[in-house]
Amino acid sequence: MNHTYPLHDPTNGVKVSEIHVNHPLKQHPNGSAKDPVKSFCDKALFGKEDSDRHIISIFAIALASKGKTFVELGVREGHTTQPLLTAAEMNNGHLWSVDLNPPTEFIPDSSHYTFCQQDTIEFLETWDERKKIDVIFIDDWHSYPHVKKELELLDRLIGPSSVVLLHDLMYGNTDPFYHTDLTLEDGQWAKGGPYRAVAELNPQFWEWSTLPWNNGLTILRKKYSNKYHSR
Ligand SMILES: C[S@@+](CC[C@H](N)C(=O)[O-])C[C@H]1O[C@@H](n2cnc3c(N)ncnc32)[C@H](O)[C@@H]1O
Repeated sequence: MNHTYPLHDPTNGVKVSEIHVNHPLKQHPNGSAKDPVKSFCDKALFGKEDSDRHIISIFAIALASKGKTFVELGVREGHTTQPLLTAAEMNNGHLWSVDLNPPTEFIPDSSHYTFCQQDTIEFLETWDERKKIDVIFIDDWHSYPHVKKELELLDRLIGPSSVVLLHDLMYGNTDPFYHTDLTLEDGQWAKGGPYRAVAELNPQFWEWSTLPWNNGLTILRKKYSNKYHSR
């Protein structure tokens, strides 16, 4: 069965293009139609997956931000899509989820959702910078140069009221301690990984802290900005 996913719409209204995915749409068993908040609590208490204990935090932060523009970089099964989409639906906002591959488990059928099968750097480079991102969750390729580039691009797209969430600064279950390895030249965790990209940010402009479980969920914020988005 063929389903069509619109690519993301960085021009804020103009349809960019479409892609086709060759598998049936399916809602996750704990999909947003049932009782998502209960499923988020259950995941915090009993979840075994590597981001399960962050789901409720991601949901709470996105919902309480009262934001309308959410972005997810790195989808895989779609587990972290669910809390962001539930918050987007409750805030009457929209979630853009980006991955090189389509989600394999939680595949939403929602007018508040757009899946973009695209490289994340390319996605950020083409996002309309007049459209401020309220909450972004970063969990795609974790090498230092990749995350550093994402944060550089994001600088133009967020303001002090935006929240940037990053998974895996404590990758490999080193939590509650950060994990960085400067000896790795290649691969997913190359050149110091996401910790190095965040740790090198100028503390005059940025502040951050990390929930020390499930490989870490870092909450990053721009303190002020004279250019780009001032709030
Ligand atoms: C760790 S998984 C995401 C897990 C998901 N956020 C969760 O917690 O359930 C990383 C995902 O990033 C995607 N990815 C890696 N590099 C990417 C890139 N350059 N552009 C887009 N997606 C990428 C992979 O296909 C993979 O699905």
